[in-house]
Amino acid sequence: MAHASDLIASDIDAYLESHQYKSLLRFITCGSVDDGKSTLIGRLLYESHLVFEDHLATLAADSAKVGTQGGDLDFALLLDGLSAEREQGITIDVAYRFFSTERRKFIVADTPGHEQYTRNMVTGASTADLAVILIDARKGVLTQTRRHSFLVSLLGIKRVVVAINKMDLVDYSHEVYSAIETEYSDFAGRIGLDDITFIPLSALKGDNVVDVSQRMRWYHGPTLMGHLETVQVDDDLAEAPFRMPVQWVNRPNLDFRGFSGRIVGGTIRPGDLVRVLPAGTTSKVDRIVTFDGDLDRAIAGQSVTITLADEIDASRGDLICAGDAPAEVADQFEAHIVWMHEDEMLPGRSYLMKIGTRTVGVTLGHPKYRIDVNNLDHLAATTLDLNEIGVCNLSLDRPIPFDPYDHNRETGGFVIIDKLTHNTVGAGLLHFALRRSHNIHWQKVQVDKQARTEINNHRSGVVWFTGLSGSGKSTIANIVESKLHLLGVRTYLLDGDNVRHGLNRDLGFTDADRVENIRRIAEVSRLMVDAGLVVLVSFISPFRAERQLARSRVEQGEFIEVHVDTPLDVAESRDPKGLYAKARAGELANFTGIDSPYEPPEVAEVHVDTTSMSAESAADAIIATLQSIGIIA
Ligand code: ADX
Repeated sequence: MAHASDLIASDIDAYLESHQYKSLLRFITCGSVDDGKSTLIGRLLYESHLVFEDHLATLAADSAKVGTQGGDLDFALLLDGLSAEREQGITIDVAYRFFSTERRKFIVADTPGHEQYTRNMVTGASTADLAVILIDARKGVLTQTRRHSFLVSLLGIKRVVVAINKMDLVDYSHEVYSAIETEYSDFAGRIGLDDITFIPLSALKGDNVVDVSQRMRWYHGPTLMGHLETVQVDDDLAEAPFRMPVQWVNRPNLDFRGFSGRIVGGTIRPGDLVRVLPAGTTSKVDRIVTFDGDLDRAIAGQSVTITLADEIDASRGDLICAGDAPAEVADQFEAHIVWMHEDEMLPGRSYLMKIGTRTVGVTLGHPKYRIDVNNLDHLAATTLDLNEIGVCNLSLDRPIPFDPYDHNRETGGFVIIDKLTHNTVGAGLLHFALRRSHNIHWQKVQVDKQARTEINNHRSGVVWFTGLSGSGKSTIANIVESKLHLLGVRTYLLDGDNVRHGLNRDLGFTDADRVENIRRIAEVSRLMVDAGLVVLVSFISPFRAERQLARSRVEQGEFIEVHVDTPLDVAESRDPKGLYAKARAGELANFTGIDSPYEPPEVAEVHVDTTSMSAESAADAIIATLQSIGIIA
């Protein structure tokens, strides 16, 4: 406890000060529970003397209780902090731990090795300078080793330590070590990792972790701790062009307006020219304000408040950039996507994308390919499942400032969030803007929706019928259309079965196909609303997200959702097309209500309970709603 505890006890300021000027290394550890990862990190923490006495007491007690080391201190228990995890015998979620030695401070992100936890690794890796990849000497290079290494490379971590662990179990064999080194180097070369240090060790026995092992005299490289303490961490980021996403606008009084955030690239000084994106306005830095007074320089990693010489507008989510090297602005991209959720990615669905401090709507295209992480093959894919990595185009609902991930992990990396559940479902790395993003503009037309509705004597809008197959959507929609027609209203009825014969002939009934089915129909109805029509849309449209999308494509007051609510057993007993019978007989897969989900509306403008209301009176209720919101007179 030499360097730490005495100072902490006697002079906390001196302790903190001694820490302040040490360099910081952020690293992640990748490997599975069985590779001995927790034991290794536990030993690093232990040997750096930052395990305090009360921790040790608990550890000794725990080791006796659940330890796997027969009463010796079980270092793995130091890490498996949560009791639930201990009981399962696996570590979940990223745990960040801080420790320090005389020479350096460390933050280690401990990311679990189980296949399904790619997401944690992506989280932990996003800020790491170095990755320690653990290999069990008895097992050699595994699928998981390749997966982790590929992710490490993809996420832009340049330095890798391959810790070949459990050397004690292979008699400290030089041959075993060399064979692994050769195999790994071959793979690493193909994924662009070239700064690799191999270290043979035994976390359990302590060989080459902190102290040089006497049992592997054939090895002449550094110990793991020795390497971590001395490896060069370059300040690439401080050299990069200046970037600071605005976290909030600091306006305590009328005389002061500052933009607060963490600098994610470059260096800034008062007087520097900056450009605020996406607006593109320019100004000069006036002051760099911090809690401890003004600075004459701030670099990547620091959180500051910047004031500008001119009164320009910037708000949360904007990016303040170097004036002479601004980021790009675009709304369509190619990107790597790492899918992180049990529910597959749905191309065409509208998700949220969080990039820096900005959140925008995003739609993912079909994957161009997915990557087999074992051999790096590009495989055909229509979607991405949990843990799969692929390349997709994506399109945003508005332009954002960005850098390619290669240039800046913070302005080029993003996460994908489900709009309804708010779960993080994926992560991505931007490659480049699609050129069409710059080349497609809105064409201004002379005759617009308003002009068209004026000669129609009614406004336009969408009546969206949703419900199970056989619920009665088409029957009611037909009656509504006949009545509107008699009233001289220009209408068009889009019906699922009909549209699936033409425009959507290529689509089936998987979740992804239904999403695309409804996306197209949402776009078609938007065009028809623009054309001045009252569009009647009769589709099962089983997902809330896509009905929400359809609603968002038209203006407020133009969308009437009609829930044709028929219980499954009633729809099934009607079975007008004999499809329920087929589905029950196993001749028709993915049938809504049977083996494919239906998400009923939470609130619909019109709710039709077909067990108590006739189709005729349902139609009347819908017409009355159209009148009350002023679409028809
Ligand atoms: S949606 O789910 O994508 O909105 P849509 O309304 O276009 O479905 O098509 C539903 C119609 O297709 C049903 O009325 C039924 O006649 C027919 N159909 C054929 N197979 C299925 C299936 N597996 N699930 C639901 N409907 C099916």
